[in-house]
Amino acid sequence: MARLDVQETFHDILFPGHLHTQESLQRAVSFLFQDTDILIVSYPKSGTTWMQEIVTLMSHRGDAHINQTVPNWARAPWLEQFYSAAVLEASTSTHRVITTHLPHQLLGPALQGSKAKVIYVSRNPKDAVVSFYHFHKIANFLPEAGTFPEFLNKFLKGTLSYGSWFDHIKGWTSQMAVMDNFLHITYEEMLMDLPGAIRRLSSFLQCPLAEDEVKSCVQHCSFSSMKNNKMVNYTLIPENIMDHSKGSFMRKGKTGDWKNMFTEDQNQYFESVFRSKMQDCALEFVWEL
Ligand code: A3P
Repeated sequence: MARLDVQETFHDILFPGHLHTQESLQRAVSFLFQDTDILIVSYPKSGTTWMQEIVTLMSHRGDAHINQTVPNWARAPWLEQFYSAAVLEASTSTHRVITTHLPHQLLGPALQGSKAKVIYVSRNPKDAVVSFYHFHKIANFLPEAGTFPEFLNKFLKGTLSYGSWFDHIKGWTSQMAVMDNFLHITYEEMLMDLPGAIRRLSSFLQCPLAEDEVKSCVQHCSFSSMKNNKMVNYTLIPENIMDHSKGSFMRKGKTGDWKNMFTEDQNQYFESVFRSKMQDCALEFVWEL
């Protein structure tokens, strides 16, 4: 594949500096997927970590040993981050689990013709933006969050890290009609019926599970289990990178928290932008539970 000018290709997407290098981005967009790979894709704060946990648990039939001994970034590395080449090279797994926040516009060419299974996780964007805002406060590698109104404007304009939420979801979900090996699942669906979501994933991944194995997956990937598991709650990350005194990664784990943050005006503005940007998209969202 021809070498891309990374600066030019990514010019409208801001990547958190210390996690991404020109080399790592270049490698990601020309990555050679194996047909056995499982790729978890999401816009930030949409349930990525939850899906990493679920997929790892499922591939070990509900046995949580790996989840409790290996950090999530080592068992499901981020394709675009600098460290993933070494992790993926060292992987001996028959089904590598890889994670990415890259938009389809950038990763589509590398996936073309591949039989790798793609799981796209989405979340209603009001909760995603609130979660992203709180995450900016603890993540020292991200730009200053500023005030919530400022942050919300950047989200709606698509100028936060990883670009526009609207382009992201439309780009990836357009693949539902094109790729056989593509599953769209939502954060809200997992919250409403986790055993059902796990069964749906097990059928998609062709990884049949007995009912007690489904139960074990559910138990180990509950919000409280994950909040208390240092292999996934990010407390292993040093304070200078994530300031845990300012909040936790496993924050609330709910749907509808945006109502505690949005003013009536912000909600109206959000809805008008949402209507205009999503008019060509038939997806429906769950905004509260
Ligand atoms: P909140 O900040 O709203 O609590 P990502 O992994 O894509 O960065 O998403 C993080 C969000 O998913 C956070 O949302 C986090 O609490 C939530 N989350 C992680 N694990 C969860 C679980 N087991 N159940 C519900 N929510 C979970």
